[in-house]
Amino acid sequence: MKDEIQTAKSILDSNRKNKYTIPSINLYPHQWSWDSAWIVYGYCSINEFQNAENEMMSLFKYQWRNGLVPSIIFHDLSDITYFPGPEIWELDKSASHLTDKFCTTGIVQPPIHASACLKLYELSKNKIFLNLIYPKLLKWHKYLYTERDILDDGLIYIRHPWESGMDNSPAWDESLNRIKINEYKYSKFRTDNKKVNPKERPTDITYERYLYLIELFKECKFNERLIFEKSEFIIQDVLFNTLLIKSNNALLKIAQILDKKIDINLINYWIQKTKLSFESKLYKNSFYYSFDLKKNKHIEIKTISNISSIIVCDNYNVVINSLLDQFLDIKNNNYNIASLERNNKLFDSINYWRGPMWVNLTWLIINGLKKLEKHDLANKIKDNCIKKISSIGFYEYFDSNDIDNKKISGCGDNKFSWTAAIFISMIRDIKF
Ligand code: DGY
Repeated sequence: MKDEIQTAKSILDSNRKNKYTIPSINLYPHQWSWDSAWIVYGYCSINEFQNAENEMMSLFKYQWRNGLVPSIIFHDLSDITYFPGPEIWELDKSASHLTDKFCTTGIVQPPIHASACLKLYELSKNKIFLNLIYPKLLKWHKYLYTERDILDDGLIYIRHPWESGMDNSPAWDESLNRIKINEYKYSKFRTDNKKVNPKERPTDITYERYLYLIELFKECKFNERLIFEKSEFIIQDVLFNTLLIKSNNALLKIAQILDKKIDINLINYWIQKTKLSFESKLYKNSFYYSFDLKKNKHIEIKTISNISSIIVCDNYNVVINSLLDQFLDIKNNNYNIASLERNNKLFDSINYWRGPMWVNLTWLIINGLKKLEKHDLANKIKDNCIKKISSIGFYEYFDSNDIDNKKISGCGDNKFSWTAAIFISMIRDIKF
């Protein structure tokens, strides 16, 4: 195992650019928000605290004045190999009232940063860093509650599939399909589907809709109320709010460590409000489902997002049963957690978030199972994941039907940073 940890470490080393780490060389040559937070766990498990602190500081340096933490920071403007880059976002024209740093996107990614920063502090004990990052984390959560909780029910909405981290999940299909595309304008500029097998990536029409939404945001000058009114895609996602609940708890601990008495009341208020609605509103027909705010209804499709609720939810037994019956394939000895329920007609074991196994959410679910004392199942899933990465490589995601660890079952890009980071975290038994 020592050799594999060394390989994982060398992937992080070669993907690190000065003070931040790119997800992978081919497909993602900039800094991504939630990738960076997963990567922090990897640095923590090899005691590379300075790299972990740099990672977070490089990201939060580009936080907007309203608190938004961008999904991508295009640190190196000379790298034009990723589409859509800053030339599409054009923040100088549409968002200069909100930021003076134009090398970012105008969307967010799931809020796992406070959790990652608390873990980092618990291991490094560096209070100087904690003091520096805390106001930024608080401002980030404040943005979510003031700008993205329009009903004031404590559930934060996403306004772009990229904000969920699970870009082409079938859960987003119905909302996206309401966006009518008359002309294919942008997908010809895609680079992703030329660099890896296009069967493993979103379709062109999906990209047209991703880009349509960006154009809408620019037209609305990133005014959240206006976007809410005009867009078809406004969703309270289970995973986003699960990670928010976890990060709120971490933020509370940080506020207590730093003795921020007034903030403690506010954070406690957020914690209660979000948890209450999570259990009452997102729980329907004995399962946790995301909620489409434009059509006022639950999205009754079972995806990995819903299973991720295991780390915070009250009705965990139904989640575990669904994991066993619909996401694993135990009778065939298959312990890959699929990203979509296996008997859904849209299930595709190699296409991005429509079926493959992802290491980050697998690790999250393992942690949930361990917390609930389901050690046997947790260990089987973990052993499968470690064995797979050791034999195939540090891929972005994996064919969830593969049980023989065939080389071909590695999907997307290789030498992927969060796969490396979480591989080490799993082996070193770091808790999420
Ligand atoms: C991509 O380009 O595939 C990313 O997931 C968008 O952030």
